Amino acid sequence: MNGINKEDDVFGRARVKDTSELTEYYKELSEIDTGALWTVANDIEPWEPSPKSAPTIWRHSELRKQVLRAIDLVRPEDAGRRVIYLRNPKRQDVSAACGWLFSGIQVMKAGEKAGAHRHAASALRFIMEGEGAYTIVDGHKVELGSRDFVITPNGTWHEHGISEDGSTCIWQDGLDIPLTNALEANFYEVHPEEYQSSNLPTNDSPLTYGAPGLMPALDKWDKPYSPLLKFSWEPTYEALKNYAKVSDGSPYDGIIMRYVNPQTGNDPMLTMGAQMQMLRPSEQTKSHRHTGNIIYQVAKGNGYSIIGGTKFDWAEKDIFCVPSWTWHEHCNTDRSEDSCLFSFNDLPVMDKLGFYKEQEFPENNGHQIVEK
Ligand SMILES: [Fe+2]
Ligand SMILES: [Fe+2]
Repeated sequence: MNGINKEDDVFGRARVKDTSELTEYYKELSEIDTGALWTVANDIEPWEPSPKSAPTIWRHSELRKQVLRAIDLVRPEDAGRRVIYLRNPKRQDVSAACGWLFSGIQVMKAGEKAGAHRHAASALRFIMEGEGAYTIVDGHKVELGSRDFVITPNGTWHEHGISEDGSTCIWQDGLDIPLTNALEANFYEVHPEEYQSSNLPTNDSPLTYGAPGLMPALDKWDKPYSPLLKFSWEPTYEALKNYAKVSDGSPYDGIIMRYVNPQTGNDPMLTMGAQMQMLRPSEQTKSHRHTGNIIYQVAKGNGYSIIGGTKFDWAEKDIFCVPSWTWHEHCNTDRSEDSCLFSFNDLPVMDKLGFYKEQEFPENNGHQIVEK
């Protein structure tokens, strides 16, 4: 083949030069639905991951007004879900925000409810604004407030709505739809009765499983995902502040904690994890990279992240992504207030498949040079 990259022109890599005889051979191979591995090997087996996704930021100031417009344009009953999805410029073919992760911004107004459904993809949401939002997961209704994080694991019936006395609510959805589709394992079902009916008390999940360090003695939960469906903002923030009193945290992430299944200490769902991190006033982290894709939402504060050599300034409720194996570091530019980043990821997949790998930035005292 022609056009061999310099780094591939070595022993152990494919470096066969084209000849007329080989060209004819390749043609004949293709006629019987085959090909010579050495013509594609360097592309399909890169030396290291070469993520397709572009580091991207979606600014709340632009996003919010467009999301609100959708209220007058479509009804949840017709749209299924009134969501504006975040489209990575390099992943339009699979409707992904980053890597194999989907994300969107959903808006509902007081009294609206979207029908129940279930799918093979797992889902999570992080509440951005509004009062009265709720999610029902397999009959368990949880009430949601700003910066709360809720899960709807794969295969569970779920529906969302806003109480009559609530206000317009906006939240970020995160799903592994692109991954599930890539694995050709996705299913989608609409609930036969449109909405779930349940006699379970409201908030039974957080009231049963939401106390730190405690589990009910008679616990009978046997599902592969967390029995705690909602993770509230206040105790999460409190936990970060307490942890900061006794730890310097991670050099790459500051004070960072994982949301976990209280029964196992593992990620709350099989395929997606989530974290909340706090950057102390003026804190600037060092750069690292790892496999796995991360989508962040600024839960609190102002700062910037340098991702793949590009600086992205962020403010509260902005959303940005770090593609797999891309250098990234974060900085809180406020000198007196902490800032917090919510994030969700596909790290459980990387971990389970044995693909997780991490590396610290080796030069310049751990900081990237900003390219633009
Ligand atoms: Fe859903
Ligand atoms: Fe990271």
